[in-house]
Amino acid sequence: MRLFLAIELPDAVRKALSDLASRLKNDASLTGCSWVRAQNLHVTLKFFGEVPDTRVSEICEALKPLGGKPMMLRTSRLELLPPRGPVRVIAAGLEGDLLPLEELHAEIETRCARIGFPSEGRRFRPHITLARARRALPPSIRQHLAAFATDPPAAFNVDHIVLMESRLNPDAAHYIPLARIPL
Ligand code: 2AM
Repeated sequence: MRLFLAIELPDAVRKALSDLASRLKNDASLTGCSWVRAQNLHVTLKFFGEVPDTRVSEICEALKPLGGKPMMLRTSRLELLPPRGPVRVIAAGLEGDLLPLEELHAEIETRCARIGFPSEGRRFRPHITLARARRALPPSIRQHLAAFATDPPAAFNVDHIVLMESRLNPDAAHYIPLARIPL
């Protein structure tokens, strides 16, 4: 099964982001993008890829409890990834307790590496993916989209994360929460 760790978002935050996505969808520069459904919006903390079913309990045991503190996050301006050059991902950036979030991510990476899931190596850029470009968008789009922001910022508290299964259906991914892991 395809697994990842995520921060789930409250309904109000997903609603605010899907309103933003609706505004962005009308922008001609973004016509070739595939948009994430409102119910699928989340913050990815770790992507495992394909993992045998039998390893789910091992992952949960390695992570529980995480030993972090509850944190408050809020959406910020649009974030275009990767941070330089052609754009592949349109995302909402995050503000708030970013240091505890980075520490949480580092702790997850350390624990997962111990059980044989190596760290991705690239810098952690917490974000909520809104859309993926089927073909990379030109760097000039960065300036064009600079005016878009989540308005007003949507705040949310985080006191747990979720181990998710991702089933890739032809129309959209279907995410199934497998385990709730308290901070
Ligand atoms: P992203 O939204 O931050 O890009 C579930 O599929 C989540 O896992 C996605 O939202 C995505 O995070 C991340 N993901 C999917 N495929 C990935 C891959 N090949 N490498 C790293 N992360 C991936």
